[in-house]
Amino acid sequence: MTLAHDPKIIVALDYADANSALKLVEQLDPTLCRLKIGKELFTAAGPKLVEQLVQANFGVFLDLKFHDIPNTVAKACAAASQLGIWMLNVHASGGLEMMQAAKEAVKNSENSPILIAVTVLTSMNQQTLNQIGIHTDLTTHVQNLAKLTKQAGLDGVVCSALEANMLRTELGNDFCLVTPGIRPANVNQDDQSRVVTPADALKNGASYLVIGRPITKASSPLKALETIHQECLLFSD
Ligand code: C5P
Repeated sequence: MTLAHDPKIIVALDYADANSALKLVEQLDPTLCRLKIGKELFTAAGPKLVEQLVQANFGVFLDLKFHDIPNTVAKACAAASQLGIWMLNVHASGGLEMMQAAKEAVKNSENSPILIAVTVLTSMNQQTLNQIGIHTDLTTHVQNLAKLTKQAGLDGVVCSALEANMLRTELGNDFCLVTPGIRPANVNQDDQSRVVTPADALKNGASYLVIGRPITKASSPLKALETIHQECLLFSD
């Protein structure tokens, strides 16, 4: 698949309402990026917006991080798949059975979106992990959950681009690594502390790059997107 058909950039639509999101999306090109809808926008705008973006030919990553009993997560994944989305996710800490149920539901849906898992939220550190009773070293815990994700038959994980190298080596070339915390060189880091450039993320083995503000807050979002896309072209196989 060529990069034009499989763009590496996923633009994070971190907006409070559909109109603000649509104003940005009108300026973007679906051959250069996909779109990520998270809990805030989905709660405000609902499935109608998702369907609208799918209709406009954008691949949509529905970032709702499902985490519940297996039956409930499976039903939620089936309902999400019906919206025609490209990718969705669950929490790996929901366990093997929950992830297997999610995968089964997605497989049985008409368009079978890519299903990935969140391992450890990057807002957590060793102390917050200990507070919830997990005393395993954080990196080992990320690795263990990523392996469990693969064992459950899911397609990949969300991870820091700084972890991508290690996970690519451990989990092989077919595993999908979706990395946020991306900042082109010379661009504001905002509140991200450990940032990686698009080129370095791809060199580290990332499959897709989640990028928000460097595109959404740019004076020309399309120009920013095109520039990063060009950088991706240089570093993708
Ligand atoms: O604007 P920015 O590029 O920082 O946006 C990054 C997006 O990726 C946001 O939607 C943020 O919630 C998400 N994200 C992240 N770090 C993670 C997981 C998700 O920044 N570990």
